[in-house]
Amino acid sequence: METPNIFTTLDRYIDDLFAPEDEALTAARKEARKAGLPEIQVSSGQGKFIYLLAKVVGARRILELGTLGGYSAIWLARALPEDGSLVTLEIENKYADVAAANLARAGLSNKVEIVVGPALDTLPKVTDRRAPFDFVFLDADKINYPNYFPLIMRSVGKGALILADNVIRKGAVLDPKSDDPSARGARAFNAMIAADPRLEAVVLQQVGIKGHDGLAIARVT
Ligand code: SAH
Ligand code: DHB
Ligand code: MG
Repeated sequence: METPNIFTTLDRYIDDLFAPEDEALTAARKEARKAGLPEIQVSSGQGKFIYLLAKVVGARRILELGTLGGYSAIWLARALPEDGSLVTLEIENKYADVAAANLARAGLSNKVEIVVGPALDTLPKVTDRRAPFDFVFLDADKINYPNYFPLIMRSVGKGALILADNVIRKGAVLDPKSDDPSARGARAFNAMIAADPRLEAVVLQQVGIKGHDGLAIARVT
């Protein structure tokens, strides 16, 4: 953890005020840490933000790439109406098991399907079975963001909202030759969504508990 600065201190203030965790969210984070998962889930404020966006657009069928321990999935599933559903894709069996337990504790198992496998393989099958999605949260391996993009476009309908996490990478996206492959993936992805005539998009720069990064927000026109 970096030394607290004004941004992390204020992020804590904001999260305490606007996105306090209930028992299910606290337990999800705790159990994920206990199981040895990397602590890279969204912050509670970021969770609240994507939850609010899902509610604002009235999302009914959500797709997530990158489940980890199910922390962001809990936020997103809570934004769904009674008959809504979330499909979330995860490559690691062990992470998917932790997520399934966390979602069950949150009382959300009935709304959430976890699909295990590399998302490049599972997404086309999930699309056949479950599309069209009206809300997508892309948060899996950043190196493949440019490869996920055309698959996601095939899985969404008009008016859908597509979010992509971690597209600024402390500014590493500025360097086309960055030695961070995740930054190169994010850079290529940003260029794709910016240029795609089917989308209206922007990137929100974020600083705080999770350092310096950004969230892409794109609407399918
Ligand atoms: N959305 C989560 C965090 C996801 S971290 C949250 O905020 O709570 C990124 C996740 O993507 C990790 O769990 C990682 O195992 C998964 N992942 C990495 N490569 C993947 C791939 N090829 N297919 C599917 N999931 C992948
Ligand atoms: C990383 C991945 C994430 O999804 C995230 O939000 C932060 C960091 C990572 O792989 O480093
Ligand atoms: Mg992320």
